[in-house]
Amino acid sequence: MNSTQSRKSDHIRICTEKQVESKKSTLFECVEFADIDLSNRIDEESFSEENIDCSITLFGKKLNYPIIIAGMTGGTAEAEQINQNLAKSAEKLGIGFGLGSQRAMIENPGLASTYKVRSVAPKTLLLGNIGAAQLSEYSPEQIQSVISEVGADVLAVHLNEIQEALQPEGSWTNYSEKLKQLCNSLQVPVIAKETGMGISKTTAESLKSTGISGIDVGGAGGTSFARVELERSKDSIENFQDSGIPTAGSILEVRKVFSGLLIATGGIRTGSDIAKALALGADAVGIALPLLKPAQESSEAVTKKLENLVNEFKTELLKLKSQTVNQLKQRKTTISGELEQWV
Ligand SMILES: Cc1cc2nc3c(=O)[nH]c(=O)nc-3n(C[C@H](O)[C@H](O)[C@H](O)COP(=O)(O)O)c2cc1C
Repeated sequence: MNSTQSRKSDHIRICTEKQVESKKSTLFECVEFADIDLSNRIDEESFSEENIDCSITLFGKKLNYPIIIAGMTGGTAEAEQINQNLAKSAEKLGIGFGLGSQRAMIENPGLASTYKVRSVAPKTLLLGNIGAAQLSEYSPEQIQSVISEVGADVLAVHLNEIQEALQPEGSWTNYSEKLKQLCNSLQVPVIAKETGMGISKTTAESLKSTGISGIDVGGAGGTSFARVELERSKDSIENFQDSGIPTAGSILEVRKVFSGLLIATGGIRTGSDIAKALALGADAVGIALPLLKPAQESSEAVTKKLENLVNEFKTELLKLKSQTVNQLKQRKTTISGELEQWV
């Protein structure tokens, strides 16, 4: 195993065995729907598919729910099984699926099979993935080639500067220029994706000038990669574990300056979190950690976990008398407490 493979293997082990979620909140608890009608009771009939349409269109593909399985892994035999199970479930439910960093398959083309999921997910919206730090190591042509090889529809470039800084083997880079070159050269749209620190208004503004098509805020309140890196190396710097812009705050920050596609990842755990993220301005949400253990088990276990979540989300839509995601997005919210400072 080379160092990229063993890092990905450590991430899976640590994320399934240790407490890696931030102590910081996403701040979705500070969001309430202003015009909720509690007299609207849910019954079996109104809970049917005909009445509620949770579908959206993302990058030209129809998703049955505004959900993407956020990128986690690739590069090892265990990762291959996890990707297969996640992708199978994404295809069944009609949601998006993100691969983990494809760095391992650039370094070793023999590992490509651990990322290839098109045989089980031919129609799924598939997101490829690479770190911003790798943009100075690999040319746009090399990156395009791994995107084409797996048949991804979109590339997510993760910007985890803190994680890079905390990794013993990490590197800080000025990614802006490289990202611009990449957006100009690739045949697929590019999104910029944080992985737990959130994206500020200033970062969103500078990202906008690179030509990206979307932003995944990757806010604080869910998996904390500073915690993961601290578990990997006791020499890693403390103090960052619970820092970052909470996911709800980051949606508000990014929406001040960015009207493109916005994905909210980071601590999305309930149907209510999904509804609130969309009402604050997200177009879809991403979910990673809660699906990791089920994905080690089977695609059925992943589907079961996700079905619970979409049922909760449908209940939110019913409570809010919204038949579609667009109607939900029009619902007024009130914002209180700590989240007010991000308004
Ligand atoms: C085991 C694991 C590995 C991850 N690897 C990647 C990765 O390779 N690339 C990436 O962009 N994000 C990666 N992430 C971050 C997730 O995509 C997501 O942004 C983050 O976990 C927050 O979502 P959550 O709170 O639902 O876990 C990883 C997350 C986990 C749990």
